[in-house]
Amino acid sequence: AIERTLSIIKPDAVAKNVIGQIYARFEAAGLKVVASKMAHLSQREAEAFYAVHKERPFFKDLVGFMISGPVMIQALEGENAILKNRELMGATDPKKADPGTIRADFADSIDANAVHGSDAADTACVEVGFFFPGMNVFSR
Ligand code: CMP
Repeated sequence: AIERTLSIIKPDAVAKNVIGQIYARFEAAGLKVVASKMAHLSQREAEAFYAVHKERPFFKDLVGFMISGPVMIQALEGENAILKNRELMGATDPKKADPGTIRADFADSIDANAVHGSDAADTACVEVGFFFPGMNVFSR
């Protein structure tokens, strides 16, 4: 089925100037950027976006990292987009990511891991809505 998923290029990858290289991978895989914006998240926004992780030991470091610089946020659309984007990203920990994945090629650590992607249909819906509440989505 055609799906939408939320993708974030994190501060480490923005700082490395590889937004275009990452977009090229989305496009080569048949995923279309249907909404996008660059933003420097506030602490409140980052905490709200990652609220599902708020009891996890890594929450504070995760939020601190995500507000350390600008991020590039996009909604991706395509056949099986949620799983396809996760395959392109590779494992959360770049040390475990398969060769040729975005994290294997661009990420340095489990926090500075280059990209975020929604993990399932329900979270994709919530996450796309969080950053693009019904506006500026251009399909087809
Ligand atoms: P992301 O897909 O953005 O979702 C939550 C983030 O928490 C994850 O990528 C990692 O960057 C970060 N994180 C740090 N430590 C862990 C961990 N032990 N397990 C999962 N995610 C972690």
